[in-house]
Amino acid sequence: MLPEPLTFQFDEKVFLKDYWQRAPLLIRNALPDWRSPLTPEDLAGLALEEDADSRLIGLANGAWQLSEGPFTGSEFDRPDVWTLLVNAVDQWVPAVSELRQCLRFLPNWRFDDVMVSYAVEGGGVGPHFDRYDVFLLQGSGSRLWRLGNWCDEDTPRIDHGGLNLLEQFETTEEHVLNPGDVLYVPPGMAHWGVAQTDCLTYSLGFRAPRITELMARWVDTVLERINPDLLLEDKASVCGPARAGEITGAHLENARQAILNTLLSLDDGAWLGQVVTESGEHAEPLSPLARRVRLQEGARLAWDSVGSDCRVFANGEQHLTGTALQPFLEQLCGNEIVDYPALCAADAELCSFLISNGVLRGV
Ligand code: SIN
Ligand code: CO
Repeated sequence: MLPEPLTFQFDEKVFLKDYWQRAPLLIRNALPDWRSPLTPEDLAGLALEEDADSRLIGLANGAWQLSEGPFTGSEFDRPDVWTLLVNAVDQWVPAVSELRQCLRFLPNWRFDDVMVSYAVEGGGVGPHFDRYDVFLLQGSGSRLWRLGNWCDEDTPRIDHGGLNLLEQFETTEEHVLNPGDVLYVPPGMAHWGVAQTDCLTYSLGFRAPRITELMARWVDTVLERINPDLLLEDKASVCGPARAGEITGAHLENARQAILNTLLSLDDGAWLGQVVTESGEHAEPLSPLARRVRLQEGARLAWDSVGSDCRVFANGEQHLTGTALQPFLEQLCGNEIVDYPALCAADAELCSFLISNGVLRGV
């Protein structure tokens, strides 16, 4: 029998309606039988790796200090109060990658990574806000989380030794998290975690694309398709004698509408899939003998259906296939194992597209 996929024990529908991107939510005992797959020593070991993205934050006599990894073992032998953070641990440890299953009711393509932190008693990263949604899962030990006010780019912050910390923090609610408890913090909400005992925290982060990036990609695509000789037509915007030199509100509105109409009429909607799957990790070339494959950790794969076609986005690149391939794509995006010969038999071109863009790895 296949093991049950991990799931947070809470009402997903209520969460989506009342909390997602709106309000914080404490989920006590969200993963009742789960045990942290990592020990502090495992995390420290990862932080020694050249390719791991790690940071060490120390606090001594009110002064914060940030250093970037890779570290040497002796750097963890320190007198101050410290926290070690390692980004994208899901790319290194399959048992951490499995945590993604807990939130499969949210769009896959919004998932960013699982960051894991280890803090000694009293440690933390200070009062701050993130621009992404985060589910803070307590792995071991306990941590006091304080929540504060909503923040934005204008909220006063101070640079403390490289850390962008809030100048003021007013506690609106606080919770002590024990292993298996989860706190969801929406983007922009101030939060501040302080380890009550030595503790491990898993941060399941969701990234949102920048509107500027989406807009630039949309406009670029339309500029590639548009007839460059197309001129603005005045239509009804020029309807009476104008004052010399004046650009009227109607002139402006007419130009605005012309641009919007062009953007919509020449849009194929591919910009979203392209942008959100960019900057994914690439797998090693697949062995020709591979029988079973799955999504490479950190690779970005998404799809949408356009009429009777299915458009596939793999690490920023795009390929068209038929809707019959959708079940395979759902399996891959859901981190399930896929029968490779069956996938190739269904669409050999799709297989080579997925391999050449580094999203498949052998199991
Ligand atoms: C931490 O794990 O210490 C920090 C996580 C966060 O504040 O987002
Ligand atoms: Co944070």
